Amino acid sequence: METSLNLTSKMPGTGTTIFAVMSALANEHGAVNLAQGFPDFNCPEKLVERVNHYMRLGKNQYAPMPGVPELRKKIAEKTLKCYGTEYDWQSEITVVGGATLSLFCAISAVVKENDEVIVIEPAYDSYIPAITLNGGKPVFSKLKYPTYQINWQEIKKLINFRTRAILINSPHNPCGTVLTASDMQELERLTENTDIVVISDEVYEHILFDGLKHQSACMFPGLASRSFIISSFGKTYHNTGWKMGYVLAPEKLTAEFRKIYQYVAFSTSTPVQYAFADFLEVESHYLALPKFYEQKRDFFRDLIKDSRFKVLPCSGSYFQLLGYDAISQQQDYELAVKLTKKSKIAGVPVSVFYHDKTDNKVLRFCFAKNEETLTKAAEILCRL
Ligand SMILES: Cc1ncc(COP(=O)(O)O)c(C=O)c1O
Repeated sequence: METSLNLTSKMPGTGTTIFAVMSALANEHGAVNLAQGFPDFNCPEKLVERVNHYMRLGKNQYAPMPGVPELRKKIAEKTLKCYGTEYDWQSEITVVGGATLSLFCAISAVVKENDEVIVIEPAYDSYIPAITLNGGKPVFSKLKYPTYQINWQEIKKLINFRTRAILINSPHNPCGTVLTASDMQELERLTENTDIVVISDEVYEHILFDGLKHQSACMFPGLASRSFIISSFGKTYHNTGWKMGYVLAPEKLTAEFRKIYQYVAFSTSTPVQYAFADFLEVESHYLALPKFYEQKRDFFRDLIKDSRFKVLPCSGSYFQLLGYDAISQQQDYELAVKLTKKSKIAGVPVSVFYHDKTDNKVLRFCFAKNEETLTKAAEILCRL
């Protein structure tokens, strides 16, 4: 439909997120889709049954704005069990419709015009738009190929009186790296005696391999007291389409968060919240997750070990990075599109996670898939 409206975009130069672009392209060309990060297997049957149960029971109206008490109490219990940290279920836990929304509200709650926010790149693609829409200025520290480790000396140099927040993400999308206790202590030291807010994206908190333990920001008192911790049920319970998660933060931060959240969404799905309140008790689900995904990681890596790709380390998340400079010198975005169209395999070019489109000739593939899908994908990758 034509419009004569004269509009100045608030987000000039912003297109559609890469995940939607690559998934649409994969569908259009019948490609095996290892691009977007979602499982191709179902979530636990018991969860589906519980949602149905609560729908039939009539739990179909607005939930309280911060989430149903039953679920918030269970989240408090689970956090204490997993990380040894107490959060008050009434004033420090908010149930939110997914981590993307949580990130947007947390950033909006603290970032004002001309504030600087330290973004460690490659970074999940919703961070920067949320910062700039709020008038903030992202300042960047780069994780360098092939180790993708944080350079804390560089972060130290970026910190100044304008620094409002720093965003961290562990386990990391797309790199598959995880932050160690000494990384967290370093951040604790760097932010000591400052007003810097930490926004800790921990959506893959239960997906760590080789015996590594998740170092949640909430385990470090100097970080817990200044952090929004962003969690997503979608990643832990194989139901990314339900868009459900929660935010942990000290009361003062939570109060500011809720001022925004109440007018962005107000609340989120009531029957799904009740279902999770029941299912969070099933510890075995999340305790089994590291092995479950480690097997998939190893299965996939083993299938492609003789390919011409360079298989980079993966310590957490469900993403495998593959370097392709022995195969092609094409720009990663162009190659990803070509592979989807011609070879029928879809991955995500890692350059899209850098604001300056740094291209190290690396593609990201999601291994949260059935063995059949992974086998099909590997057959194609081994032919390249
Ligand atoms: C690092 C990271 N943060 C946040 C999200 C968003 O999670 P949700 O689907 O709960 O909005 C994702 C999803 O892929 C992610 O990888």
